[in-house]
Amino acid sequence: MKSADDLFKEFKILSVSEFFKKNADMLGYTGKIRSMTILIHEMVTNALDACEEAGILPEIRVEIDQKGESHYEISVEDNATGIPLKFIPDVFGRMLAGSKAHRNMQSRGQQGIGVSGAVMYSQVTTGQPATIISSTGDEVWKVRMNLDLQKNAGKIIEKTKIENDGWRGTKIIIEAKDVTYNRSRYSPYNYLRMSSIANPHARIEFIEPDGTKIIFPRSSKEVPKPPKIMKLHPKGMTTDDLLVMARNTKTRKLGSFLRTELSRISKKKLDEIERVSGVSMEMNTHRLTWKDAEKIIDAFKKIDFMAPSSEGLIPIGEENIMKGLSLVEPEFSIAVTRSPKTYRGGIPFIVEIGLAYGGKNEAGIDIIRYANRSPLVFDQGGCVINEAVKSIDWRRYGVNPDSTPLTLFVNIVSTHIPYTSAGKQAVAMEEEIYNEIRFGIMDACRGLKRFLSLKRRAYQKKQRKESLMKYAPESSKALSKLTGENPDKVKDLFIKLIEKRYA
Ligand SMILES: Nc1ncnc2c1ncn2[C@@H]1O[C@H](COP(=O)(O)OP(=O)(O)OP(=O)(O)O)[C@@H](O)[C@H]1O
Ligand SMILES: [Mg+2]
Repeated sequence: MKSADDLFKEFKILSVSEFFKKNADMLGYTGKIRSMTILIHEMVTNALDACEEAGILPEIRVEIDQKGESHYEISVEDNATGIPLKFIPDVFGRMLAGSKAHRNMQSRGQQGIGVSGAVMYSQVTTGQPATIISSTGDEVWKVRMNLDLQKNAGKIIEKTKIENDGWRGTKIIIEAKDVTYNRSRYSPYNYLRMSSIANPHARIEFIEPDGTKIIFPRSSKEVPKPPKIMKLHPKGMTTDDLLVMARNTKTRKLGSFLRTELSRISKKKLDEIERVSGVSMEMNTHRLTWKDAEKIIDAFKKIDFMAPSSEGLIPIGEENIMKGLSLVEPEFSIAVTRSPKTYRGGIPFIVEIGLAYGGKNEAGIDIIRYANRSPLVFDQGGCVINEAVKSIDWRRYGVNPDSTPLTLFVNIVSTHIPYTSAGKQAVAMEEEIYNEIRFGIMDACRGLKRFLSLKRRAYQKKQRKESLMKYAPESSKALSKLTGENPDKVKDLFIKLIEKRYA
């Protein structure tokens, strides 16, 4: 029999990067095509986020080169702010590090693990370092680096200063094995096409492994409003959230801390919180215990607060969704931006829907899912968007889900997207989000139904006209016999009549 001493000789502390190396599938790295698309997704979402925060119209260049069997080099270049040299090791080499996770703000990234996960995948499949070229406007730095998995830290192998000719931005070059390239639905090609639809203000250039250059052009010159940091709403908080914030605040008095760091707490509300929770608002915030925090959170549940502000949420907007959908050259398109709602009591969100009919669409409904403008390509089965789409009675709107050529665009905008996993490809089944998606689709479908019935009527009219025209010569002959009029005159009159009636 083994003793505890024997067993505990095996006891080890794993770093977060060692954990994700063992569980790379949790970050989405499963299968050759999916791994390739996830690598590109992580780099492109970062580029778009950085441009958005800085108010820049994105110019993104993605290039994939084949180096061998299932072995590729991938590079992504942006024209965003660039990354200061001293942050490069943490951005690309440290997991759970970044500028987004701790800010309650709408962004594509929200975990601080995306690009460091990509560098990790590259390193463990090829053994090669990543190359980062970045400039914040002054000098350009070229850094070759890798990840120290045990320490969860980036390690610079070599850095070189390069003369700058006015460039600003970041270029990341990584190699990866166990990946492949094709143009399927799950491919980088489709991912970038989808990104372009939801980001009509971005210009994306893409070089495929065989050298084909594809440009997804910019269809809107409007820079989206930069995201705003929002205060947490009392109804969306847990005891642990409150305690962590209380430990880190500089505000000494509990009442002042709640008023300044949470939203929708007035002086009057503080009295109510004190009365319902029994916790003094005069106490020192740093002395807040778990029990006190629990009482306050319970009080939050019982008290009515104004709904959270949604001013920090930036939807794409109906006009821009239609511009994005123009990529499929539809015969008809419609977009709906629903008004802001909340889920889990206090997290604000907005649902946007777009429908594009005809044009380059193939038969059936092509559902394109997004969260904060970032395409969700995988795990559709477990996503609230798919569940909501499935629940729609499409035939009521004149749509046959198997044959009507339709693109259905759904974007969920929120300061916190409730993803089902760290791979960020599916959104959890939150009832309020589910309902909003349904309502949005039904709104848009009403517009589509009007168009389809007009189209049907126009088609029927055209068919009637064509069949009358077909019989015009025969009918005119018969009429001329009956009336004794000149056959050509009868025919002319008859055709004129049809033209007028079915103009
Ligand atoms: N191209 C870029 N330009 C400027 N800053 C960047 C760029 N790429 C990454 N960063 C910075 O590096 C941080 C870490 O990026 P990373 O992708 O690992 O996490 P994230 O984007 O914060 O969240 P997520 O894990 O959800 O992607 C970002 O928060 C951002 O501050
Ligand atoms: Mg990211």
